Amino acid sequence: MLELGVFFGSRAAEHDVSVISGLQILENADKSKYHAFPVYISRTGEWFVGEPLKDIKTYRNFNPAQKGLSKVTLPAQPGLNGLYALGGGLLCKPRRVAKLDCAILAMHGMHGEDGTLQGLMELADIPYSSCSLVGSAVGMDKIVMKAVFQSMGLPVLPGVYCYRSEWRQTPDAVIERAERVLQYPMFVKPANLGSSIGIGKANDREAFRKVMEVAACYDRRILIERAVEKPVEINCACLGFDGDLLPSLCEQPAGWDEFLSFEDKYTRGGGKGMKSLDRKLPAPISEAMTKQIQGYTADIFRMLECKGVVRVDYILEGNAVYVNEINTIPGSFAFYLYEPMGLPFAKLVDKLVEYAQRALAQKQESSFAFSSDILNKAMSGVKILKK
Ligand SMILES: Nc1ncnc2c1ncn2[C@@H]1O[C@H](COP(=O)(O)OP(=O)(O)O)[C@@H](O)[C@H]1O
Ligand SMILES: [Mg+2]
Repeated sequence: MLELGVFFGSRAAEHDVSVISGLQILENADKSKYHAFPVYISRTGEWFVGEPLKDIKTYRNFNPAQKGLSKVTLPAQPGLNGLYALGGGLLCKPRRVAKLDCAILAMHGMHGEDGTLQGLMELADIPYSSCSLVGSAVGMDKIVMKAVFQSMGLPVLPGVYCYRSEWRQTPDAVIERAERVLQYPMFVKPANLGSSIGIGKANDREAFRKVMEVAACYDRRILIERAVEKPVEINCACLGFDGDLLPSLCEQPAGWDEFLSFEDKYTRGGGKGMKSLDRKLPAPISEAMTKQIQGYTADIFRMLECKGVVRVDYILEGNAVYVNEINTIPGSFAFYLYEPMGLPFAKLVDKLVEYAQRALAQKQESSFAFSSDILNKAMSGVKILKK
């Protein structure tokens, strides 16, 4: 039996959505193969394990002192393979509370989807389900992401960016730069948030000032982009690792807000979490456009060194396709895009585990050892040239 830690929560605007995705994994992981257990990171960044975390009610007014919860941490050192109790006095040996063979990261947003948790897993040599560090970090930053897509020759909407400090000190220079490259309406987005938080559309200069002020509350870097009027959105997921990639069907989500409210999402539809009526699946686009979008999605997957399941979101303007963003840990792991392709949620979890394990095995194939004589030379007084 594999000890499968399902991580969710954390200090992110998408905390609640992450709880839903985590509980969905716990519900759908094959019980004959895995002992799946919740690892909850609270809004203040404390880590917990325990039975109450399987119950959605626990999160309404989370009480860290609730009976049945243990506060834990994951040591960054390889070989410890588990979650350890925090505290315990000076003479206490670190106590392993839960063994951890593999981690499913059901994190959305900052402090979890952005490479931070992935980095910890890399240090600890724990196989984990999501993209590599670099892919996770690039996928979280809308400014760098756009630059990478552009460098790949993919169609993106034109944009400029600025720092908050620049906006505060010389707003007119930022306006001048944006207006030189773009026309109104413009979309203004904090570089690092998701779920449409802090995002605004400006039809003129006055509105631009307002939406910039809002975006500046959320991030110190801001992306300004040409707005598409009445955009049609198309999403496409990709599942895989290394050369083994499976793009999904394309979907057309109905509106802006891909996520239902916390209550709606989890309690409706038998706990499946995503309201299926709110999307067109497959999207009503031509076969050629479907292939084009699936091809772009696979190219992005490869370039960002992705792993597991990701979702790339597109904006259509007439027949023109623009890549909007990648979600390296998509809501509900995009299970609803694979289910109609004959891959039930439980099998999707199997794939996530398989790819996590393969990635660690591949990493361990690479050599990190390189013996140099530098320390000996340094001790014997030889001058070391600066690198
Ligand atoms: N340039 C744009 N033109 C028109 N609509 C846009 C544009 N950029 C984003 N949107 C709309 O805003 C939503 C949120 O923007 P997005 O870049 O996906 O950020 P988030 O990370 O918050 O999901 C998109 O789903 C889309 O509906
Ligand atoms: Mg989006």
